Amino acid sequence: MTSLSGKIAIITGASHGIGLACARRFARDGAKVVLADVDEEGGKRAASEITSKGGVARFIYCDVAERLDIHNLVAAALDEFDRIDVLVNNAGIADATNFFKLDDVTFDKVLRVNVKGAFLAAQAVGRQFIRQIEAQGEPRRLQTRQPYAIINMSSIDAVMVSEDHVAAAVSKGAVNQLTRALAVAMAPWGIRVNAIGPGTVSTGSVEGLSGGDAEGALERTPLGRFGAPEEIAAIAAFLASDDASYITGQCIYADGGRLALNFTMPQKG
Ligand SMILES: NC(=O)c1ccc[n+]([C@@H]2O[C@H](COP(=O)([O-])OP(=O)(O)OC[C@H]3O[C@@H](n4cnc5c(N)ncnc54)[C@H](O)[C@@H]3O)[C@@H](O)[C@H]2O)c1
Repeated sequence: MTSLSGKIAIITGASHGIGLACARRFARDGAKVVLADVDEEGGKRAASEITSKGGVARFIYCDVAERLDIHNLVAAALDEFDRIDVLVNNAGIADATNFFKLDDVTFDKVLRVNVKGAFLAAQAVGRQFIRQIEAQGEPRRLQTRQPYAIINMSSIDAVMVSEDHVAAAVSKGAVNQLTRALAVAMAPWGIRVNAIGPGTVSTGSVEGLSGGDAEGALERTPLGRFGAPEEIAAIAAFLASDDASYITGQCIYADGGRLALNFTMPQKG
């Protein structure tokens, strides 16, 4: 078990699915969590569930692709907890339309949340990390470990494609490159930036897969099962912890072996 004791973590898209699992896991490991989401009802319910189990949690409404919302999110987190240590850029949406039927509105919508949202949050929180480091009068190039970390939720779609998830694949490819760019930009302050690339994980969106799609996804997953949101949250907890102090600019894939299998078409015979 990793320890996030005393850390202040913002988790976007935390009302449901993987983000909610991250919020629960971080709180269990001792972090104080700020849940950010466009689903206000779900977010408030999630925060009060965590609080009822002895954790410290607060929900803030935030559309990650709106600069003002991100500004208000950072301000609210500081108001409540005085500093921020970790950002989990998890909010994301997918498309399920064949490339030739994919319209530009959907394409924009997916990239707006998955890429612009991650960029805006990372820039605002990264600037706050630097303010905190410089307020302590620490040298720019540090010899010591820093607690600050950003974790971007990518996907195996960053490196493999299906003609039915083109916008999501393009967005997650961008998330991986954003991760590397941020890692380099923030390294002088000792801030670490990494990504997680899940395969198929049982969340609301995936549970909606119809029989054939679900079977197809399982057929391409050597472990023979979908991942659980908690299995992704465990990686986020590790990357946020001091145990990952020398890891930056990486994407850790948790996909039940799908990338190792390395094919996207259904097997015949
Ligand atoms: N579930 C999977 O199989 C899977 C696989 C690979 C990657 N991912 C990634 O993991 C992340 C979480 O996926 P999930 O399956 O838990 O999804 P989910 O749909 O269960 O939850 C996503 C959450 O993000 C919130 N959200 C959507 N748009 C938002 C916005 N503009 N601002 C703030 N919040 C917003 C939703 O309200 C929801 O609470 C996404 O980035 C997704 O691309 C998921």
